[in-house]
Amino acid sequence: MKSEILHILRNQPGYVSGQELCRQFGVSRTAVWKAINQLKEEGYEIEAVTNKGYRIVACPDVISAEEVKSLLDTCWAGQEIAYYSLIDSTNNKAKKLAEEGAAHGTLVIADEQNGGRGRRGRSWETPPKSSIAMTLIVRPDLPPEKASMLTLVMGMAVASACRSLLDLPAGIKWPNDVVLDGKKICGILTEMSAEMDGIHYLVIGTGINVNMNEFPEQIRQTATSLSLEAGHPVNRAEVICRCMKYFEQYYETFMERQDLSALQEAYNGMLVNMDREVRVLEPGNTYSGISRGINDRGELLVEKEDHTVERVFAGEVSVRGIYGYV
Ligand code: BTN
Repeated sequence: MKSEILHILRNQPGYVSGQELCRQFGVSRTAVWKAINQLKEEGYEIEAVTNKGYRIVACPDVISAEEVKSLLDTCWAGQEIAYYSLIDSTNNKAKKLAEEGAAHGTLVIADEQNGGRGRRGRSWETPPKSSIAMTLIVRPDLPPEKASMLTLVMGMAVASACRSLLDLPAGIKWPNDVVLDGKKICGILTEMSAEMDGIHYLVIGTGINVNMNEFPEQIRQTATSLSLEAGHPVNRAEVICRCMKYFEQYYETFMERQDLSALQEAYNGMLVNMDREVRVLEPGNTYSGISRGINDRGELLVEKEDHTVERVFAGEVSVRGIYGYV
């Protein structure tokens, strides 16, 4: 009931009468009052005025299941939430929950990770109360070789969320880093459980630097946060919900054709290296060319000096701008 009350207080303009809440939930005034007090203890500022009712004045920057659900506007993405204040890795937890039968769209969120994992065996920092660590469980009816494209879909969702919510010019560094001002704000790690002919589940783990003011020495030159770029603190729950909204929309579009053809133009519009020189670093082979965007399979097309076009498949390959990270 607490989360439903929060949802009503957030979405109904003006005051919400206590009597109306009692009627809706079929509970006593004391029960409503207790739920309101619990919300206050969690940091919500709620004004109570005699004969008018309750009104939310300020919300804390928390990413609990209640808070996220009260802002969520999706059909399935994030409709089930598992929240942890501290966990080793939301990807690890999501895989465990998926093995136990968690539904398509279940979202695992943590306020802090102490074993966050990045791509290529690297670690990922998630300090408490200032970043987002979330992993979405999806169960697409898709051949396993097409699964990696959903990582690009999540990258698009995060970039779109930053653009629409904060009016920031977020871009994508192929395949799925989200960048601002030439620096990384988001990384995505997708893991899969599948057989030859079908996927059991995918976990799409997304780490977003939201309200961090400083970074460890080794990533200081290449990382930034939403608050540093926006110039003000950013509400993490709103970012999560906006990402879920876009992901759901893009996922549906992707699944219609099981490729990126309908999303390709939008993706390439956000690609920071579009039509710029890049260096492709493959194991044992390095070359330069002009990035011409992705094809409908998510491969990066790189036009070499002799005008032949290489299709670069994500995996062991790294693509860099010639002047540094982007
Ligand atoms: C990268 O190396 O760029 C990918 C980083 C992915 C980090 C996220 S944070 C949430 C989820 N849990 C993890 O352990 N990793 C991913």
